Amino acid sequence: MLSYRHSYHAGNFADVLKHIVLVEILEHLCKKDAGFDYIDTHSGAGLFNLKSAHAKKLEEHSNGIAKLEASDFPELERYFDVINDINKEAGADRRELSFYPGSPSFAKHYLRRQDRGWLFELHPEDFKTLSKNTERQRKIRVSKEDGLKGLLGLVPPASRRAVVLVDPSYEVKTEYDQVVTAIKNAHKKFPSGTYAVWYPMINRNKINEFERQFVHSGIRNIQRFELGLSADDNDERGMTSSGMIVINPPWTLHKKMSELLPKLTKTLAGDEGVYKCDVLVDE
Ligand SMILES: C[S@@+](CC[C@H](N)C(=O)[O-])C[C@H]1O[C@@H](n2cnc3c(N)ncnc32)[C@H](O)[C@@H]1O
Repeated sequence: MLSYRHSYHAGNFADVLKHIVLVEILEHLCKKDAGFDYIDTHSGAGLFNLKSAHAKKLEEHSNGIAKLEASDFPELERYFDVINDINKEAGADRRELSFYPGSPSFAKHYLRRQDRGWLFELHPEDFKTLSKNTERQRKIRVSKEDGLKGLLGLVPPASRRAVVLVDPSYEVKTEYDQVVTAIKNAHKKFPSGTYAVWYPMINRNKINEFERQFVHSGIRNIQRFELGLSADDNDERGMTSSGMIVINPPWTLHKKMSELLPKLTKTLAGDEGVYKCDVLVDE
């Protein structure tokens, strides 16, 4: 039973970090003419209306994207370009932020004729919306299947260049182990792919164990980026921080994030904010 709906959370501080990292990876892949594959194991609906009843219920974007001024972050020009284009395409008022792109929309913005997108979404309604949001895109295939299983069938891709985004809601605690197993199996078949895994910081011990499993997986070249609105309190009352584990990141990513994270954290969380930017396993 899937109860999580990303439409309640779109554009929050966790989405901001996740999509900034995703844009950096996509930018890097587009530097070469050779085609690449984008595999999104947990795609969501693809595009979110920030004025919808769901978004208005928690207003999470007010602690996320709504806090950022593009003019204060010239280094995030590409990220804001996608958001602006999406709002323009959707016919939104130019002075307002009405829509926030999901990961498939960020990818759609980057995919060229020679690239392919593979999107997985299990929730029936979000699958329907995602299919509509990506219709007439012959280079994108949307499947209502388990993304972690689907991933194994897609690697290694013919292009031999790919980014895999793994962004579950972790509604079920076993999902952490399932993610590690799926990444280990995919990496065995396709060791040169870039894998970007999102995680929520609800319980620090759980995440320490999650990271430990990556560190001891035998996989090399792993970085971790984390941003929190406050320090962890380990009481499982809600998400205080979130992070991205990136395997085979673009060589520019660590420097970019180490310069960006202090400033981004300050803007999103003031003096309470915390961040991490480190190499978990060397190349
Ligand atoms: C955190 S949301 C994804 C957000 C999206 N990646 C983004 O950045 O806009 C997680 C999504 O995964 C879907 N989901 C849960 N389990 C899944 C599975 N095993 N395979 C594919 N999708 C799944 C949920 O319905 C939900 O829409």
